[in-house]
Amino acid sequence: MGRLLRTGLNAGTEAPQVVGGEGVHFHLSDGRKVLDGSNTGGPLGHGHPRMAEALREAAGLPMVSEGWNWRGRDKAAEELFEVALKGEEHWAGAVRFCLSGSEGNDIALSLSQALTGRKAIATRERAYHGLVGLSRDVTVQPHWHGGLAAPNGGTKVPPPGAKVHVLPAPEGATYLSATEAARRLPPLDERLAGAAEKLRDSAAVIIDYTQGGYYHDGAYQDAVAGIARREGCLWIADEVVTGVGRSGRPFAFQGGDTRPDIVTLGKGLGGGMVSVAAIVVSKDVAAELDGKSWQNYGTLRGHPMAMAAVSAYLGIVRDEGLLDRVKALEGLYARRLSEIAARHPSVSRVAGQGLHWTIELHGPDWRNWLADTTEAPIASRVAGHALGAGAVIGTSGEQVSLFLAPPLIISEAESERLLSILDDSLFLADREHNATMEGAH
Ligand SMILES: Cc1ncc(COP(=O)(O)O)c(C=O)c1O
Repeated sequence: MGRLLRTGLNAGTEAPQVVGGEGVHFHLSDGRKVLDGSNTGGPLGHGHPRMAEALREAAGLPMVSEGWNWRGRDKAAEELFEVALKGEEHWAGAVRFCLSGSEGNDIALSLSQALTGRKAIATRERAYHGLVGLSRDVTVQPHWHGGLAAPNGGTKVPPPGAKVHVLPAPEGATYLSATEAARRLPPLDERLAGAAEKLRDSAAVIIDYTQGGYYHDGAYQDAVAGIARREGCLWIADEVVTGVGRSGRPFAFQGGDTRPDIVTLGKGLGGGMVSVAAIVVSKDVAAELDGKSWQNYGTLRGHPMAMAAVSAYLGIVRDEGLLDRVKALEGLYARRLSEIAARHPSVSRVAGQGLHWTIELHGPDWRNWLADTTEAPIASRVAGHALGAGAVIGTSGEQVSLFLAPPLIISEAESERLLSILDDSLFLADREHNATMEGAH
């Protein structure tokens, strides 16, 4: 046993040993270069020269805690509004920086509790919002519980801190191919019929735009937001994955007409080189904070190095036209993935937006799994095969979900290679699926 505590994430395969990276490739200890195909924290791939230069320069900056002023922090805030929130100035008020998406969601939820005086919080089925404090409570995928998963059962799950309401998933509004079950779903207003009661005692409802493979269009967001407004519940757009790049527009919430009370950002915001996240509050929320001190402090939040990374990332997004690039690649992924889904009987659904795509396989029900089995799930085995063939393809942690989230700088040719490795690797899942089907007859 080494000195670094390694706990394993779930019953997946052994993680590869990374020794370096460049562009869209990881360099592994066995000398191979593999395509980085699922890395929501690395929007620019590895070693982007402009990011590297900005951070080299920032290495000489002082250590300034959140309690002190730092001009680079004001600059990053201004740039976030100029680059990402352009056109949203009518409602967006101000930003506070923090360290991770989990922390951002926890802070946003506790602020909502303070503002409304309510304790309960709400999300939608199959959501993941982080594993810290209240963000863990609203992470309702059963296997992401923040506790200990033992391979032969005996899993220990910590009890939640807040009461959590779960709204139905936005299943009918997936971007590409919905399941048969989703196609038979009743209309949205019927599905959300019980939501008003749930949001009546909730401080906030938080919705994200990728987790569980749900890439809902604006209708779901607008319906939930409308109910939240009527019931005095705040709504938080969790754009930790989708914000400033991956969805092919600055924010996924721009697919709807409503605008959130709070937006959280993270993951790629530091260009994949530092840990940084942010909470953007609306003008109304900012007005409520005016004249009060928000008693929530973090020593390393808004660190000069992190602020330099945010500024550099936003500059690259703007100057390299990354959002247009993602939008242009979206069509390629949509087309190729529907072909792949049609070819493989093991695929139950593909869905996605921009450069985030989910491939869901037939198999065990994700609702019943606590990551406590000895055998690697089928999604992990497919990902293991893909790694052998030269590409990292992620699993969402569920047994049956694979996802692609390549660097936003990926080329068409590299995308084709990634997709063809996925295509080839799915034979494993087909074999298993066909055997199950035969066994059932
Ligand atoms: C939608 C969403 N929100 C929040 C988080 C938490 O972010 P982090 O892991 O950076 O704390 C994640 C992480 O996967 C996420 O997917």
